[in-house]
Amino acid sequence: MTDADLVVHGAAELVVGPATGTTDGGHPGAHEPPTEPDAVLERLEDGAVAVTDGHVVAVGPTDEVVREYPPESANRAVDAAGRAVLPGFVDSHTHAVFAGDRSDEFAAKLRGKSYQEILAEGGGILRTVQATRKASADDLLERLLGHLDEALAGGATTVEVKSGYGLETDTERRLLEVIRRADDRHPVTVVPTFMGAHAVPDGESTDTYVDRVIEEQLPAVADLAAFCDVFCEKDVFSVDQSRRVLEAGREHGLVPKVHAEEFARLGGSRLAADLEAVSADHLLQATADDAAALAEAGVTPTLLPGTPFALGTEYADPRQFLAAGGEVALATDFNPNCYAPQLPFAATLACVEMGLSPAEAIRASTYAGGLALGADRPSIAAVPAGIGTLRDGAPGDLLVLEAPSHAHVPYRFGTSVVDSAFIGGELAFTAGSGVSR
Ligand code: NIG
Ligand code: FE
Repeated sequence: MTDADLVVHGAAELVVGPATGTTDGGHPGAHEPPTEPDAVLERLEDGAVAVTDGHVVAVGPTDEVVREYPPESANRAVDAAGRAVLPGFVDSHTHAVFAGDRSDEFAAKLRGKSYQEILAEGGGILRTVQATRKASADDLLERLLGHLDEALAGGATTVEVKSGYGLETDTERRLLEVIRRADDRHPVTVVPTFMGAHAVPDGESTDTYVDRVIEEQLPAVADLAAFCDVFCEKDVFSVDQSRRVLEAGREHGLVPKVHAEEFARLGGSRLAADLEAVSADHLLQATADDAAALAEAGVTPTLLPGTPFALGTEYADPRQFLAAGGEVALATDFNPNCYAPQLPFAATLACVEMGLSPAEAIRASTYAGGLALGADRPSIAAVPAGIGTLRDGAPGDLLVLEAPSHAHVPYRFGTSVVDSAFIGGELAFTAGSGVSR
C-alpha cells in the first residue's frame, strides 16, 4: 500500500484515453456515421485513478486501485459515485491575451459585412492591436487570468495562448511576458505561441513586415515561446511569406503551427506538412488531398467550430481528416471575433454541426489537443507525454463532472458540467468555490 496525493474512486465512467487496439483508434471512415459512437474512447465503469507527484500512478477498476492506494491514506480522496471522470481538456488554439472587445463588429457582421471586409477597413485584428498596444501589462494580465478562469470552469486544464495583437517588437514581447506570468499565477498550464505574423500593420507592406517579424521580433521574443504561428491566408501572408516566418522561427527553436485554408485554400496545409508543423488549424477549405498530406506528415488538423459559428459560415469536415488516418483536435480559437472561451461549446458544435459523436468530440478535446501541442514528439517540451489521457505517467489533470458520462459535455451547452478540476493532482477549480489562485 502506498500513499497517494489524490485518489478519485468509484467513477460511474472513467475515460482513460483513446481506445487502443485498432490501428485507426476505432474511428469510422469517411462520411460513415459512427457505428459504435463510444468506441473511440477507452472507458471504465466504476473506475479510479491515483495521482502522486503530479502524475497518474494508477488507473483501473476501483477495487484494484484502492487496494494499492487506499483513499483513507491519500492527501485527498474524491468519491465520484454516479459521476464521470475525464482527462482535463486541452485547448490548443486561443488568442486569449488582448484588450478591448469588438461587439460593434458583431452587429456589423450580422448586417452582412464579412470578416475580410472588416479587416481590410482597418477593423478586426487591427482594432484589437490598437487597444492592446495601449494597455498596460498588468491590465492585460488581469484580463488573461479572467479568461483562464472561464476556460478552467469549462474544463480546460491546458490552454495555448498566442501573441499577435502587438505586431511590433515591444508589444509582442509584452504579450509573451504576460502569457508567462499568467502561467506562473494560474493553475492552468499555459502554453505560449509567438504570432507576430497575425496581420500586417496599417500602412506597412507585407514583405517589409515579414522582414521585421524575422529580423526584429523573432530574436527578441523567441526565448518566451514554444511555437511560432502564422495566418497563411489570401490578402494576409502568402505561402512563401508564411514559410519564411516559420523557417526563421524554427531556427530560433520554435515549432511551427499554421492558420491554414480558413477563407481561401492557399496551400497552408501543404506548407504545414512540408515543415512538419505540429498542427494546421481552421481548415474550412481543406480538401481530402490536404487531409492526406497532413496525416502523412503527422500534423494534427485542428478544427475551430466556434469561428464559423460566429461568422455564420460553413464548418470544416472532420471525416476527411479521420478517413486519412489522422486525429482531429478541437479548440476554441477564443479571440475578440469568437468570444467563447470554453472548449465544451466547440464540442457541442462539433457534434451538432460537424457530425462527430460525443466520444469523438471528447477524444478531440483531450488526447488530440495534446498532439496539436506536440505531446507525441519527444523533442518538444511544451506539454508532457500522455497529456489528455489518464494513463500511467500522464499529468494528473482531470475533471470530475456533475454528470454520469462524457456525453453530457457536448449534450448540455451554454453551461458547464464540470464539478471540479485537478491539475497535477491539485484541486484547481470547484463549481462551488471557483478557481483556486
Ligand atoms: O484564428 N484568423 C486569424 N486569427 C484569429 C482571429 C483573430 C481576430 O479576429 O482577432 C482566428 O480566427
Ligand atoms: Fe486563430
